[in-house]
Amino acid sequence: MTGKFAAASEAARRVKDGQVIGLGSGTTAELAIEEIGRRMRDESIEIIGIPTSIMSEKTALQAGIEISSLDEHGELDLTIDGADEIDPALNLIKGLGGALLREKIVAEASRVELIIADRTKLVERLGTKAPLPVEITRFAPGHFAARLSKLGCTPILRSDGGKPFVTDNGNYVIDCKFAEIKNPSDLEFKIKSIAGVVETGLFIGIADEAIIGMEDGSTRSMSKSE
Ligand code: 5RP
Repeated sequence: MTGKFAAASEAARRVKDGQVIGLGSGTTAELAIEEIGRRMRDESIEIIGIPTSIMSEKTALQAGIEISSLDEHGELDLTIDGADEIDPALNLIKGLGGALLREKIVAEASRVELIIADRTKLVERLGTKAPLPVEITRFAPGHFAARLSKLGCTPILRSDGGKPFVTDNGNYVIDCKFAEIKNPSDLEFKIKSIAGVVETGLFIGIADEAIIGMEDGSTRSMSKSE
């Protein structure tokens, strides 16, 4: 068993009949969506899903999950999502899959944000493994790269088949590689102060719990209070 599957199955077990669930993006979140679909078939439970990307909507529909929107359901019971890095305070880097904007909007509308990952995602300090994705408007990407590099990172415009990668929202992404992020809140403020930045992949104080899956099928829970 993979650590991702162990975490995804444990998260899917937390889902209760009648709940409105935010459906995250990425390979780990997709495993959880499939497991929720399996529970719906095997245990006859009903849930409504709010997807965080076109891809997670597709996976949810294939799994037999009824889809709705944040406009219809402004407060979600639970969101299950993956992460690229998790620090000991449960601050995250997200967005290597490109869904950071909708993931953050859905997370903020959720009573509980549950993160699922294998242990490769655990870091002592954010930025030490993954780049920080920053979603920007398509106007003047070189300008954003120059502004972001002044904050101490190496910025790379994300590409897809030789062209800039375009998010579900029609924007570009710059991946910013830092040696480490010493003060995530300060960095979030500085990046969001640049006109035309749509969102960053820093999730600070948003996650309530992380389930870390191990290869032997066991899981470990981290909560904000740890
Ligand atoms: C997508 C994300 C994903 O949750 C994150 O990239 C983790 O993906 P995976 O589960 O495939 O490792 O933030 O925007």
